[in-house]
Amino acid sequence: TSPFVPRHFLSIADLTPSELTTLIRDGQSYKHAIKSGLTPRNLLGSLTGKTVAMIFNKRSTRTRVSTEGAVVAMGGHPMFLGKDDIQLNVNESLHDTAVVLSSMVSCIVARVGPHSDIVDLAKSSTVPVINALSDDYHPLQTIADVITIHEAFRSSPTPGRSPTSGLGLEGLKLAWIGDANNVLFDLAIGAIKLGMDVSVASPKGHEIPKPMLEVIGQARDGVKDAGRLFETRVPEEALKGADVVFTDTWISMGQEAEKAERLRAFKGFQVTPELVERGGAKKDWKFMHCLPRHQEVNDEVFYSPRSLVFQEAENRLWAAIGKFGAAFLLESQTRADGCL
Ligand code: CP
Ligand code: NVA
Repeated sequence: TSPFVPRHFLSIADLTPSELTTLIRDGQSYKHAIKSGLTPRNLLGSLTGKTVAMIFNKRSTRTRVSTEGAVVAMGGHPMFLGKDDIQLNVNESLHDTAVVLSSMVSCIVARVGPHSDIVDLAKSSTVPVINALSDDYHPLQTIADVITIHEAFRSSPTPGRSPTSGLGLEGLKLAWIGDANNVLFDLAIGAIKLGMDVSVASPKGHEIPKPMLEVIGQARDGVKDAGRLFETRVPEEALKGADVVFTDTWISMGQEAEKAERLRAFKGFQVTPELVERGGAKKDWKFMHCLPRHQEVNDEVFYSPRSLVFQEAENRLWAAIGKFGAAFLLESQTRADGCL
């Protein structure tokens, strides 16, 4: 028999548009079912007796809690392994850690620094590895973000569109104001695959790196009605016609030493009602942010009725449940039984 090759989930780039659509629809249907008191039979108990290792080398509120909650909702047992809990990086290599953990658990979820760490982990793991944030990507955040955009703009069926077809997000315009970072990269890849345009305004030195531009560009490959990416240094330009205004911290985890330089570089990039007004976003524009938030948005926008940030945060749970309920883990479990 051929050895089991697990399917990993390291970036939205790993998904076809239809797989991404399925994850979003699954997350939404579990949300509606569970909130209305139903217990989806195919979900609950599907991880009974299974363990999920959660290697977190960085802090986390949403990703940790949503992952643990999702695994428990499905009857599994999450094992949180913070950076002081296991031998990794002190006494033991990534390779050895991946081999040992994957001989004992059904899935590894990991939050790392350099993206190469999660790639290495996946190479040495015999069970699926899911990226819980690396310096380059944050795929679970993108799933929650698209669920949130769909709820805000397309919750009622588009006339003439079958409910099983695409999500109907084509033509929406997302504006990203600030640091071109991990959250943006997966969001842009996902948006483009689903037909949304993304305009990014970031200051010199903090724009999308060239190799990442190529990866984002590949999201268009083979996709009919793919979205497009625009770049500028001027926030107002990116905001023109935007349906959703996004930002994220100017100082990601691991960049603390660059704080002073970054605060200088991002001057003028704070999302305020005046900035969005000057840019000419659509009348009903919404605000989104993965959280935690700092000075990149003011309170007036962050706590306004336009702000979807807390709905977006809650959707991390439904995204995680949809994710674990979807092909990767369940299919892998079926095929990996011999490994357990
Ligand atoms: N948005 C997000 O990933 O938050 P945490 O760092 O709290 O997990
Ligand atoms: N860009 C941020 C996201 C945190 C969820 C970081 O990497 O720290």
